[in-house]
Formats: sequence, structure tokens, C-alpha cells
Amino acid sequence: MADTQQEANAPQPANAASEPAAPTQQAAVTEPAHEPAIAGEDESTTAAVVREQIDEVAADNGQGQEALEIDDDRDSGFTGDDSASDTTSIASSMLRGHIENGRKYATLRDDYWGPSDDQQFETMDAGHLLYLILNSDHHNMLFRSPVPHPQHVLDIGTGPGTWAIDVADKFPEAIVNGVDLYPPPTSWVPPNCYLEVEDVLQEWTWKHKFDLIHLRLMLGAFTEEQWRDVYRKCYENLAPGGWIEEVELDVRVMCDDESLRPDSLIAGWGQNFLDCAERAGRSLATQTTMKSKMEHAGFVDVQDQLFKCPIGAWPKNKTFKEAGRINFHHWSSGLDGWAMFLLTKFGAPQPWSADEVRVYVAKVRQELQNPRLHIYHFTRRVWGQKPL
Ligand SMILES: C[S@@+](CC[C@H](N)C(=O)[O-])C[C@H]1O[C@@H](n2cnc3c(N)ncnc32)[C@H](O)[C@@H]1O
Repeated sequence: MADTQQEANAPQPANAASEPAAPTQQAAVTEPAHEPAIAGEDESTTAAVVREQIDEVAADNGQGQEALEIDDDRDSGFTGDDSASDTTSIASSMLRGHIENGRKYATLRDDYWGPSDDQQFETMDAGHLLYLILNSDHHNMLFRSPVPHPQHVLDIGTGPGTWAIDVADKFPEAIVNGVDLYPPPTSWVPPNCYLEVEDVLQEWTWKHKFDLIHLRLMLGAFTEEQWRDVYRKCYENLAPGGWIEEVELDVRVMCDDESLRPDSLIAGWGQNFLDCAERAGRSLATQTTMKSKMEHAGFVDVQDQLFKCPIGAWPKNKTFKEAGRINFHHWSSGLDGWAMFLLTKFGAPQPWSADEVRVYVAKVRQELQNPRLHIYHFTRRVWGQKPL
């Protein structure tokens, strides 16, 4: 494998993940019993402060995810206020990236839709916090695979490396590799964590087998054939009995009441991007296909957990209110980066101009500010084992 960046001078970031969590709360839901209102016809607060809130929230929740009861007493929650690899060199062109429409993209591939700049890293960090909060009732908030003492862990598409760093902190005896297309923005990682620059579609050269391989929010990164290749490589690079785990979100925004108008831009958001991604040949519906692809690759005992992620502080339950608050920031900071590449290259009826995208995003962001919305999206977690 290729370039590694690991510096050890700066202070360690707060690591909420290493703290044991409190009372059990089942965050998973079964498939919706009724068809929820679907978006579309077819289908900073500082990180440290939020992390501190996770344990507090976990200690005070006792309500199932299914309910997502609405907090009628709240004020507007949308104010936004509270809410060892082979080498160590990194080419400067990788650091500079490729600038397009005001966003920075990795140079290693020109077909990946996501920017790799500070704004996108902030979005990814918010996503990481969202999933920590929603798993705050579990002793291990980072993964479900039954690997109590991991020795070698790989995080594919690690982004800023937040998940990999938290796993390395929680399991100091493990070696954790995180890999992405660009040098990590992180100035400090634990000594047992290696953030590497590599394209996972190229040959893997890690010399050891892993006992856990993790992927999160890799939707739209690969063609169907490339996904099969990635799962095959995961299988081959896991030790017998090792686990693969993947977390992917459904880009469609939904509600269980009438609060999301079917003619709103948010309602059409998900389908808009599902269609763009189909035209790009890299589906965003990864959450619906990953389980069968893992099974096809040979994984067994594949388990599937679907859960709701509120957007906005509308739920009554404290955990989901906090999750919704963070998810609002996740969306608010993410919209531009999620939209720009796909719409300017694959928008319909013809590719959109960057200004059209900016106006669209501004309007969607404005709609998100509506405190009367009770919206959410689904996220799915799937994990399975390579036979012993
Ligand atoms: C949406 S981000 C998710 C980041 C992180 N897993 C998280 O949950 O915050 C997807 C990441 O996958 C990376 N990625 C896409 N294609 C890749 C490839 N072929 N090899 C390595 N990383 C890739 C992107 O650069 C991006 O950082």
C-alpha cells in the first residue's frame, strides 16, 4: 500500500468512543410497517462539546427509536447555535487536490463525487457524531461485529479518519489502518493508527490479514462491478472468521406525518440524486444492495439493522433530539458538497451550472430551517463473517 501520514505532536482529540455507554436502548427498527412519506415521488458546535454530551444523553434515554415522538414544547431547534504502510511521503499534488466550482477534490480518481476539503471534513465529522449518538446505548458505539479483541482493522474510505482513530483509541492493542484517496486532514493520530493514501480499486498490498474491515458512507463511490471487486478483496484480506461491516444511508428524506410537503425541494432531493447517480453509473442506493453483495462474496451470518436518523431537533427523546440536532448540521454543511459534482455533471435534463446548484442548495437549506418539519432518513448497518 502507499503513503502514510502519522504525526505525533499535537494534543489528542477527545475520544467519546472509548467511554462505556449506559442503559440499553434499541436504536434499530424493522422495515417500516407502512410506507412512510417519501422524499420525492418514487422513492459548530464544537465536536468536543457534542462528544461530551453523548454520555449524558445515553444515560437519560429510555425510549425506542420506533416512536420518534415529537417534542411539542421545543423552541426552534434550527438556530444552528447549539447544536504501517510502505512509505511516508505524500505528493504535494495530492495535498493541493483538484479545485472545481470552489470545492477541492482528490486527484487520485476523477470519478468520485465527494469533495475533500475542510467543509466536507466537517460534514463527515458531524456524520460520525450522529452515529456515535445513535449508538450511545451500546458499550461499543463503533461497530456491531462480534470482534471483542481486534488485532488488525481496516477502514475503507476513512475520510478524516475519525472512526479509525476512535477504534485505535478504544483498542490500543489493535493496528488500525484507514485508507482514502487523499492525505488525512488529521494532525495527530494514535500510535496504533495509520491513515494511508490509496485507491482501494487498485491492488491491495497489506501484508497481514484483517479481523475487521469497515466501510461507511461509501455510497456512489463504485460501479456494480467495482463493488463486487471491493467485497472480493475484503473477503480475501480477512482472516478466517473475520468480519466485514458497512453503514450506508438512504438519501431519501421521509416523514411519518404530513409535515413534509410532497412538492417541497427536500421531498424531491433523494430521488434527484438517485437519478443522477444512476446516470453516473454509480448507484447511491448502496444500502439496498450491500447485504446481497456481501453474501454473494461468500460472507455468512450477514445481519442487517435499519434505523431512523432524524434531521432537526424535533424528536422528544433526548438521544434522538441530539442526533437530530447534529444531523441537521450534517445536512446543512454537507448539501453543497453532496450536490455539486453530481448535478454539474449528471443533472437533468442537462448538467446544471454551478450557480444553479448553489441556488438549489440555498433553497433546500432554507426549507430545512422550518421547525415544523418532522423529517428523517434511514441508515442501514450490515455486518457479516468470513467462514472459519
Ligand atoms: C462520504 S465519505 C465517508 C468517509 C468516512 N467513511 C465517514 O464515514 O465519515 C467517502 C470516502 O470514500 C473515499 N473513497 C471513494 N472512493 C475511494 C477509493 N477508490 N479508494 C479509497 N477511498 C475512496 C472518499 O474519498 C471519501 O473520503
